Amino acid sequence: MRLTRATLSLLLTSTSSRSFTSAFGSNLHSSRASSSLSRPLSSLPFLSKKHRHTPSSAALLLANHQIMTSRGGSTYLNSAVASVEEETAPTEYFRKDYEPLTNIVTKINMEFNIQDGKTIVTSEMKIEANPNGPGAGDLVLDGDETCVKLVSLEVDGKALSEGDDYTLSPGKLVIKKSALKDDGSGTLTSVVEIVPEENTQLSGLYKSGPMYCTQCEAMGFRRITYYPDRPDNMAVFEHIKIEADKDSYPVLLSNGNFVEKGDVEGSEGRHYAVWSDPFPKPSYLFCVVAGDLGSIKDSYTTSSGKDVHLEIFSEKENVNKLDYAMESLKRSMKWDEDKFGLEYDLGIYNIVAVNDFNMGAMENKGLNVFNTAYVLADPSTATDTDYERVEGVIGHEYFHNWTGNRVTCRDWFQLTLKEGLTVFRDQEFSGDMGSNAVKRIEDVQSLRARQFAEDAGPMSHPIRPESYISMDNFYTATVYSKGAEIIRMYNTMLTEEGFRKGMDLYFERHDGTGVTCDDFRAAMADANGIDLDQFGLWYSTPGTPTVTYDSEFDAEKGVFKLTLTQKSNSDTPLHIPISTGLIDKVTGEEVVATKVLELKEETQTFEFDGLKNDVIPSILRGFSAPVKLVPASGEMDEEALAFLAARDTDGFNRWEAGQRLFTSLVFQELDGAMTETTTDYVFEAFKRTLADTNMDSSIKAYALTLPSESTLAEELSGSAVDPVAIHKSRGAVRKAIARKFHSELQAAYESLSKEMEGKDFKVDAEAVGQRRLRNTILGYLTVIKETAEEQKAAAELAVNHYETATGMTDKMAALNALASMDGEGATSRDEIMQRFYEEANGDALVLNKWFSVQALADLPDVLDRVKALTKHPDFTMSNPNRCRSLISAFAMNANAFHAEDGEGYKFIAESVAAVDKLNPQISSRMGTSLIQWRKYGEERAALMKGELQKLSEQKLSDDLFEVVNRGLK
Ligand code: BES
Ligand code: ZN
Repeated sequence: MRLTRATLSLLLTSTSSRSFTSAFGSNLHSSRASSSLSRPLSSLPFLSKKHRHTPSSAALLLANHQIMTSRGGSTYLNSAVASVEEETAPTEYFRKDYEPLTNIVTKINMEFNIQDGKTIVTSEMKIEANPNGPGAGDLVLDGDETCVKLVSLEVDGKALSEGDDYTLSPGKLVIKKSALKDDGSGTLTSVVEIVPEENTQLSGLYKSGPMYCTQCEAMGFRRITYYPDRPDNMAVFEHIKIEADKDSYPVLLSNGNFVEKGDVEGSEGRHYAVWSDPFPKPSYLFCVVAGDLGSIKDSYTTSSGKDVHLEIFSEKENVNKLDYAMESLKRSMKWDEDKFGLEYDLGIYNIVAVNDFNMGAMENKGLNVFNTAYVLADPSTATDTDYERVEGVIGHEYFHNWTGNRVTCRDWFQLTLKEGLTVFRDQEFSGDMGSNAVKRIEDVQSLRARQFAEDAGPMSHPIRPESYISMDNFYTATVYSKGAEIIRMYNTMLTEEGFRKGMDLYFERHDGTGVTCDDFRAAMADANGIDLDQFGLWYSTPGTPTVTYDSEFDAEKGVFKLTLTQKSNSDTPLHIPISTGLIDKVTGEEVVATKVLELKEETQTFEFDGLKNDVIPSILRGFSAPVKLVPASGEMDEEALAFLAARDTDGFNRWEAGQRLFTSLVFQELDGAMTETTTDYVFEAFKRTLADTNMDSSIKAYALTLPSESTLAEELSGSAVDPVAIHKSRGAVRKAIARKFHSELQAAYESLSKEMEGKDFKVDAEAVGQRRLRNTILGYLTVIKETAEEQKAAAELAVNHYETATGMTDKMAALNALASMDGEGATSRDEIMQRFYEEANGDALVLNKWFSVQALADLPDVLDRVKALTKHPDFTMSNPNRCRSLISAFAMNANAFHAEDGEGYKFIAESVAAVDKLNPQISSRMGTSLIQWRKYGEERAALMKGELQKLSEQKLSDDLFEVVNRGLK
């Protein structure tokens, strides 16, 4: 049976006279309006709670099908579509197929009637022909029928009939041109029903603990209602009314300005609030929150004198951990004014912390939502890195207000337009707040470990992808981190001043619209009067380019010639800025300061004249381009590296030279034996660094740290990688260094401990640097554990470190060392592990650390431990943070994950399949750990591929399908 408007009215009969008042003139009468029901819908027999289905691990489509039929067999307007079990392959969408919408929504009023077990969403949309489109036509709305049940539909107060006025198909509701006015306009009113309590995907409206919240990027709004859910439909969300139980959900929030609140007449215990956002926005920036939340408040006066009310909400027990986020927010606001002349534009800036969140945080206009892990910070629960992350993410989401919200993306292929640019901005902000040199090293480390690896595998894509099945799979290291590097290259080539001119022009041209990466590039080019056509290739070229260098010195003429050659996946050469300086070989002085060499041809020779002596070039300073730099000979000149590690005036390249020496030594050990020469270079550099009294402590810590296993694995690409062997070789070099400098390390540890003793706990560059350095040294001291005596000594040191820790950073450093102890250290390990658990006292973020540290341990039986932990009462697959803390952390433990028997792969594949039933965004991310099989030796490759094959034979979400299929290709 298909419900007609009349039967619906019967079912939802109301005695109330209240109605949902339209801002566009028409009224949606109470017979269908959610707010006006005389009794809650859940009390109606066909929706009663006892008939409701509770989610099981059954396939989501199936589960939803059952929900639907279990509602007393009642049908919704879209039930026929929802019950179609699709067996067809998921659709792939292409960038080249972009077409503007024929009709758009320009204004929308919504009402959320939140009830226990069901939420009714009424939307009234003002429709117009798209002024930038081909002329009036059908109105195409997106909607996820597995989540949204369509109750009623009308245009200008007239009910629509299926077939004549509209058609439904999976994912789409098309209102025919004929159902609208001739000019394509009309007011469309829809009523839908959703069940946030059963939304385990955490996309759309869902429940996180005691609160309701939304996540709409990229395509979550279609899980709330039928709508043109794409970023080129910008609408004013004029009147957003949220109605809920007053005791359970006293706080009701949405985007923009607060309008009013009050009690719902005739409905005992219910209240409502109304919000209005004056800025047109795409649906992905929409947000509502309802909950019993605590908050901290503050205010900020913008440079033009406007007062902004700042408020950060969280569950009440966490309110005492919000101060650092608030301070970071104010610093972000100030920084964007100072650096880019960008002021905040609303009178309110709200942030809500939620425990269940797929990503880190979301920039919804005026109402950011944050994963608790990126907003809560307190010395007893957060490490220094957590603090840095909070500052960076708060900045990131704030900066999106201009680069993302005021100017947004035309379509999702342009994602890097807002994400790459905003990551660049948050990197610069964090650098300016702390140390630019430290931040640059951290960002490049992460780029190499994650993005380079991604670009070398089957998920490789240009920063502006050409196609996707699930857009959620393209929030990648490439779009983000490499995207930020592309933005950084403009900044490097145009200078900060020129970059600012380009930004100014970009806002001048595009404020209030959705644009493309090409529009950004055009603004940069036009503002600076330069040609950036060739530079555009960076947007369409996947993979990491290689730049080789060769040089010669003409002593007679005093000319140094540097020849650079590029190789990439682009048919024609890229435009690559290579920042370079020269250091006199004899005097050790810098004789040519940093110059940006613009490599535009395949091979180019750059000449430097007027030189007295031969020089050592310092190439790619500050990592001026996301490329791999290799000597033309293929052999690293270790003498030159040692020279640069000691003398380069560019902090980044000094660090880089040291890292390359370390890498050489690890690879030698991997090949059989460390050579004396390389060992000497490494030892000398290590010794000098450790003894340096002028060096920033953080830089020193990074200079003393070997490249990560993933960075090393990435460097090896080309030959079959053996991650277990890399782990062993890196460990062997670490141990060799620790033994060689044992007494120096001990002395440094003690002197740092003394320096830090009795000082107030602070999270500033100096204190963070000291902790980072002392913890790096602790790491070296605790790898010496071959003999029983050494094991005892190492455990004792770590236990003492734990017991004297002044905050979470030191505690974690000690726990980390202890987690990998065995033999005589096992008792201490177990005791401290238990103590840490008890001290966590149920704090979710601290428990995540407890799970992670065990999943990352260097012990022979990690997998068994991890499997046991999946049975721990605190473990759950449904909370993304918890799931990541154990399962994804295990996948990052290369030694255990890549165990030769393939059990690590099997465990991950099974976990991925289980999570996929709950949350496809999380499962597909976890699945990426299995797709790199081509990198490894035959046996591992076969085992990994086998697991992918098994996955591919199951019913998978579109998200996971895409990852698994790319992995198998
Ligand atoms: N817009 C994203 C959040 C997002 C991404 C929501 C994908 C839904 C799907 C947000 O601005 C973001 O980029 N967050 C990052 C953190 C940031 C500091 C790089 C995140 O969530 O990881
Ligand atoms: Zn972002």
